[in-house]
Amino acid sequence: MTPQPPATPAASRIYLDNAATSFPKPRAVLEAMTDYANRLGASPGRGAYAEARESAQLMNQCRQRLCQLFNGQDPNHVIFTLNTSDALNMAIRGIALASMTSPCHVITTDMDHNSVLRPFNALCEQYAHITQTRVACDPQTGLVDPDDIRAAIKPHTKLIAIVHGSNVTGTLQPIAQIGAIAREHDIPFAVDAAQSLGHTPVDIERDNIDLLAAPGHKGLLGPLGTGFLYIRPGIEKRMVTTREGGTGSISDRDVQPDFLPDRFEPGSHNAIGIIGLSAGVQWILDQTVEKLWEHEKTLTRAMIDALSGDYQLPGLTYYGPQGIKNRGGVFSIRIDGFDAPETLSEQLENQFGILTRSGIHCAPHAHRTINTHHLGGTTRFSFGPFTTLQDIQYSADALAACVPPQTSRTPHPSVTSA
Ligand SMILES: Cc1ncc(COP(=O)(O)O)c(C=O)c1O
Repeated sequence: MTPQPPATPAASRIYLDNAATSFPKPRAVLEAMTDYANRLGASPGRGAYAEARESAQLMNQCRQRLCQLFNGQDPNHVIFTLNTSDALNMAIRGIALASMTSPCHVITTDMDHNSVLRPFNALCEQYAHITQTRVACDPQTGLVDPDDIRAAIKPHTKLIAIVHGSNVTGTLQPIAQIGAIAREHDIPFAVDAAQSLGHTPVDIERDNIDLLAAPGHKGLLGPLGTGFLYIRPGIEKRMVTTREGGTGSISDRDVQPDFLPDRFEPGSHNAIGIIGLSAGVQWILDQTVEKLWEHEKTLTRAMIDALSGDYQLPGLTYYGPQGIKNRGGVFSIRIDGFDAPETLSEQLENQFGILTRSGIHCAPHAHRTINTHHLGGTTRFSFGPFTTLQDIQYSADALAACVPPQTSRTPHPSVTSA
């Protein structure tokens, strides 16, 4: 019996690439951006007239809302950036380049994204006194053992930078435990929250985070071109600036202001993007991140049940934690018979209107960890707040239909035969 396409035809496109950027955005995000563009249009902090002042107020409101979301103490320590990579570069280079005269050792993990790995590699190539340790993770779950982080610490370790949610397996690393180890050793702890902030509760205090890097355009539901770095008060004293320029403040002086956010925010802001981001963060605060996390866990549970329970698809593997524990709604999948993961993505799009992302996902060592690097990676499904249980069911039906007939064991009851 050959599995057939799912009974429910794709009425529209089903966007399951929220790990790349979230879509759709709440209506309030679009309305806030349109209102700014139509009514204000001024550069925040660059004029004393009402429109510039209101733009600056709206931008600062975004800093406050972000602090409310992750329990930050000082909104002026929210530094707006282009994206997560930009924020991580600021954190990593800011700390590593502050110790130009003494040896500097940095620690990350194999599950980390190129936005941590590449700055580390570049620094080690450019400066002989900078070295790194990349800690291995469990091939089944993707989890790092906090004791392995502890064991990697050297007397001259200056930074631990770790991804919270994996963009390959959905694994959530035990950041609070790792942060406690970093704190014990007085080492700044940077967290890449690209896949976690807005999805699951993150608390600077509880999780012992010193530097929080996040996108505005993924879990926070703002537009592309937004992101931020939160610097725990005091940590900025251990950092150098990696770029300087006009701030609209103390312009008579030749040097960068020493107060935040201006010290780390040279140049005009992406005001329209930040105002959209602010509306996205407010939407999350209104919904509550706890409720959104419950929704994501419901979707994750449904996906796990479909992939490992009802369907029993013999050639299908999903990676990372096999249960709901220690994971979010990011699923990397391979199906025997699809040598290139891109072929599966193409079939999912062309036949079923399902949008996924295939390949190495900018995380080569994560794919080495789960043993998919030599296969060209995986096909990734990633959920957002507007993903529904129906989308999950439809995707599981579509995957069942994609399994080549010779490997198919038990077609799902919803898949009818010709
Ligand atoms: C875990 C992780 N870190 C960092 C990034 C980089 O994010 P951005 O595109 O905002 O720079 C991504 C992007 O997908 C990611 O998944």
